[in-house]
Amino acid sequence: MPENQQRSGEELFRDFAPLGSPAVYTRDRCDEISDTVARIRELKRERRAVILAHNYQRPEIFEVADFVGDSLELARKGTTVDADVIVFCGVHFMAETAKILSPERTVLLPDLRAGCSLAESVDADSLEERRDELKAVYPDLQVACYVNTTAEVKAVCDVCVTSSNATDIVEKLPTNNVLFVPDENLARHVQENTKKNIIAWDGNCYVHHQITPEQIERVRKHLPRVKVLAHPECRQDVLDLADAVLSTSGMIGYARESDAQEFLVVTECGLSDRLLLELPEKTFYKSCKLCAYMKMITLEGTLRSLEEMSHPIELDEDVRAGAERSLKRMLELS
Ligand code: 13P
Ligand code: SF4
Repeated sequence: MPENQQRSGEELFRDFAPLGSPAVYTRDRCDEISDTVARIRELKRERRAVILAHNYQRPEIFEVADFVGDSLELARKGTTVDADVIVFCGVHFMAETAKILSPERTVLLPDLRAGCSLAESVDADSLEERRDELKAVYPDLQVACYVNTTAEVKAVCDVCVTSSNATDIVEKLPTNNVLFVPDENLARHVQENTKKNIIAWDGNCYVHHQITPEQIERVRKHLPRVKVLAHPECRQDVLDLADAVLSTSGMIGYARESDAQEFLVVTECGLSDRLLLELPEKTFYKSCKLCAYMKMITLEGTLRSLEEMSHPIELDEDVRAGAERSLKRMLELS
């Protein structure tokens, strides 16, 4: 670990820690990882498979991934890869998105427990009911759904959005009234940046929603030059304190381009591993918040997935086609 990232012991690290967790990667563990990585690479060739990984994945997953990115980048990449099989190291809605856009490919999720608290906070029946109620009041209403939703929900919506394009897409919709599901925080952030009327659902991400403004202020007091980068799934009172509100890949781009040396990365912990690997000369402070769903994907589970071809994503064709319409509209508009 670079010396400039080895600060410790201060009160400010109660909520935000400096990068690196060296204890986990012992010599024995590294030998194990290296054998598993070699076997995964062999199987990828045999199966004509690629591995797509989200920015929050474990660092050893980055070693075997063909592409690492945020939700929008992964959705696009899934449509262009030259492969029969996609192993998705991320959460269920991300693998489902890949299957929706590439039904001819086998899409595998190494662990079916890898869900998402946002995706679980809205179901298609309740959404249809709410949409119909609101349409009686706002006949021009359109429904925008965050990509962190099930295929059934996407099929009921007019358009999908991600953290990197939500405001832009809402601005481009031919309507003034938008029901935005399921993230209340992202909805509020969009509302701050548009004159349109945004009606929010009441879901949130359990990882980002627990971060408080007091935690950010405490760090700022000790590190006055730190740039605060926050994910739009955070509460509005946290976003108000940020220098930039960005998707996970947006944060990497910002840190790369910025002249600043110190960054507070207000999102799930895993992104910091990627930042450490890509920008070792800069100093990052990470929030000690883990997404338990993302961390269900392991290197060993990924190997098993390729060995056993588990677990394939299957979708009802009507649902898939409906969800594809919402996703394609997003890809065309963004
Ligand atoms: P990004 O699209 O910014 O990678 O966000 C996905 C996500 O689930 C964040 O919690
Ligand atoms: Fe879902 Fe939050 Fe985990 Fe992202 S961090 S996958 S929004 S639970």
